[in-house]
Amino acid sequence: MRFAVLCISDRGARGLREDKSGPLICEILTPYGQNVIYKCLPDERDLIAKELALICDKNKADFIFTTGGTGLAPRDVTPEATLDIADRTVPGIAEAMRQKSLTITPMAMLSRALAVVRGQTLIINLPGSPKAAKENLETVLPVLQHAHALLADKVEDCASQLNK
Ligand code: MTE
Repeated sequence: MRFAVLCISDRGARGLREDKSGPLICEILTPYGQNVIYKCLPDERDLIAKELALICDKNKADFIFTTGGTGLAPRDVTPEATLDIADRTVPGIAEAMRQKSLTITPMAMLSRALAVVRGQTLIINLPGSPKAAKENLETVLPVLQHAHALLADKVEDCASQLNK
C-alpha cells in the first residue's frame, strides 16, 4: 500500500513549528506499506484541496492521511478542503474514530475529521497533535487492508476476507 501524509499547519508549513505528527504517522504505517509523499501545507482550503486531488488523480497513493486543521479555530479548514474534492464520504470511519476517541477524551467531539474516497484513494483526516493523530490512526488500522481491496475492486466475497 502506498500512503501519503500531509501535515496541515500554518506554522508547520512556514518552518516555525516542527511537525511531530507526520513522522509519527509514517512510522506507525511503515509495516503497512510505503510512504510516497510527506508534505506540510498551510491551512489554505484551495491549496489543500488541490494537493489532495493531485495525489489522488496521479494515483500516487492508496491512502492519504492529513493531520491537523480539523478543529474549530477560524483557520481550521481541512474537512472542508477534503469534502471539496470528494467523490464519496465514508462516515463510518470518522464515526469510529470519534467513538473510540471519546473513551479517551471529551475533546474528541471537537474534531470535525472526515473520511472520503476520491477515485481509488481513501483520504482520512486525523487531528493535529501527535497523541490525537496516533489514537485516531490506531482506530482505523484494522480496516485499511480491506478498504484497499474494496477500492481496487478485488473483493469477491466480503465474508471470506473478514475471516482472514
Ligand atoms: N482525539 C483523540 N483521540 N485524542 C485527543 O487528544 N484531541 C482533540 C480532538 N481529537 C484529541 C482527539 C482536540 S483537543 C481537538 S481541538 C480536535 O481533535 C481537533 O484537533 P486539530 O484541530 O488539531 O485537528
